[in-house]
Amino acid sequence: MRRGTYSEARLSDHVDRLGHDHPPIDVASVDFTVRRPAELERRFGHVLDYMARVELEVDRNVLELTTLLPDPPEIDRRFYADVWQPQEIQHGLVLDELQARLGRERAEPDLTSIGAKLRVLGALAHVSAVQDVCRMLYYLTGMATERSAVLAYNLLHDGLVDLGETAVARTVIAPIRRQEPGHYAFYQLSARGLWDELAGWQRWLVRRLRSVSFSPVGAGDATQRRDFGEVMRRLEVGDPDDFAAQVARVERDLLWSHRRGLHVPPYVARAFREAAELAAAARAA
Ligand SMILES: [Fe+2]
Ligand SMILES: [Fe+2]
Repeated sequence: MRRGTYSEARLSDHVDRLGHDHPPIDVASVDFTVRRPAELERRFGHVLDYMARVELEVDRNVLELTTLLPDPPEIDRRFYADVWQPQEIQHGLVLDELQARLGRERAEPDLTSIGAKLRVLGALAHVSAVQDVCRMLYYLTGMATERSAVLAYNLLHDGLVDLGETAVARTVIAPIRRQEPGHYAFYQLSARGLWDELAGWQRWLVRRLRSVSFSPVGAGDATQRRDFGEVMRRLEVGDPDDFAAQVARVERDLLWSHRRGLHVPPYVARAFREAAELAAAARAA
């Protein structure tokens, strides 16, 4: 299935603009001056490590993507190859360098494992009607991931300014957070366009698969979910339900518009709450 000419042109312009306006961040451009390294490490070291790992795992995400979408539309390929991957990898390198300078171990990204669920979907995706279901799941995951990144970097930026760490706020986090909304916009435009084209059974399948497979960004297993819960705590996101609602607003409006008054899709709320509970339990232990 092809996108309408209008949304195709819009996406193409969007990708051109992102590539042009947002070159990957050069590590040499960063001012790593830190006033109180021990304090910064204590407050946000865990957050830096989590985010560095997730950003560096972009190479595995590309692998997952090519498994899930063996035959992606050209615009998707251009986005992830020319814009998204080159930008995200630099986010990871800059954050990892910062945590190393604070005396922490470098992040340990998983660059190769691809889950069984994804392999099965990838095999099915050779059937073109299923390929569109997979594409929709990919856009939904992208939206939730990028929206989480935008929210997290905003909080981290403000937290660093509060600590008086203005050099890293200005030269590490500010440039990174400027690049995330463009990624979010790409997935959102794509998701909205594709959802309109899906048949009833495809939409049903998307809702089902999303309900059983959702996890917060970078949180594939219980340890990572606990770590994500700890990130939320350190960033002081407040009620996990409200954070979940901000992350999944467009997903709710697209997939669950028939459920009037739904605050947040239940599987998203459940996942964020579970992460917060795991972190609380680990602290209590
Ligand atoms: Fe990023
Ligand atoms: Fe991003």
